[in-house]
Amino acid sequence: MKKYSLIIHGGAGNITNLSDEKRQSYLDGLKECLGEGQKMLSLGRKSLDVVERCVNIMEDNKIFNAGRGSVINAEGEIEMDASIMDGSNLMSGSVIGLKHYKNPVSVARAVMERTEHVMLAGEGAEEFANKSGFKYFKNNFFKTEARIRQAEEAKKRKKTVLDIDDLNKNKKMGTVGAVAYDLKGDIAAATSTGGIANKLKGRVGDSPIIGAGIYASNKLAGVSATGFGEQFIRCVVSFYAAMQISDICQAPGACRIAMDYLRESVKGLGGIIMIDRLGNIGCGATCKNLIHGYIGSSAELFTSLTPSS
Ligand code: GLY
Repeated sequence: MKKYSLIIHGGAGNITNLSDEKRQSYLDGLKECLGEGQKMLSLGRKSLDVVERCVNIMEDNKIFNAGRGSVINAEGEIEMDASIMDGSNLMSGSVIGLKHYKNPVSVARAVMERTEHVMLAGEGAEEFANKSGFKYFKNNFFKTEARIRQAEEAKKRKKTVLDIDDLNKNKKMGTVGAVAYDLKGDIAAATSTGGIANKLKGRVGDSPIIGAGIYASNKLAGVSATGFGEQFIRCVVSFYAAMQISDICQAPGACRIAMDYLRESVKGLGGIIMIDRLGNIGCGATCKNLIHGYIGSSAELFTSLTPSS
């Protein structure tokens, strides 16, 4: 049995011509998260706290498509989705279409812990966030230079795009996520996203949908997904992946099977990260790149822009 494990992702896709500077920004962002997560896990903090914190760090980092760096929709607005799930009791929370709160995953956790519900959407989610004491930001706060340029370009080309690189035929599906296995053996997962650029107002991706963009059960595994949300919803990818876990199938095998299923059934694009019930780490993708990192068995930090393990 592993002592603790942590895996995180910051999006997937087929990235070419990535500048050294941008590559380094992704790797630095991942390392910051892993360092913080490792500190928390080694001190005995629970997996739920760790995944929330890791996702908060990525939501605050403009390079990732979540929170502060979220993409802009067809109406020129930001609409963010997020979810969190506790594998020890299957409690889960999610928010859809948040516009004014910079850490949607924390609002999702509040939905899980402070209401009888699993999902809150739109105006109701906004009111709940406000009443729960989360700080309000104007929607413009989220509009970074890079995202404004991306939205203008997407509109010009009349395209719904997954990321700025997609305009140059280099698809990158941005979303962030984390899965942790703590010293007690409890698993938790979290996912957060701005969705896809130039999406229709009100469009909902896989990230807030339990079973599609996230799943966690101590009896199976924790999973967080990134990719073309519509395809992940149709294949209920995260639950499908977790359900592969058995005495003879651990996280790496389960990720492979789930990615084969996604590719073969809907030609799906994206990737997943997973920690199974024994603390084994796995990941997989149907595309060339998966921006991800994990803490390996000897407690070293590993980061990569291509699928590994
Ligand atoms: N996977 C994120 C989305 O499609 O919204």
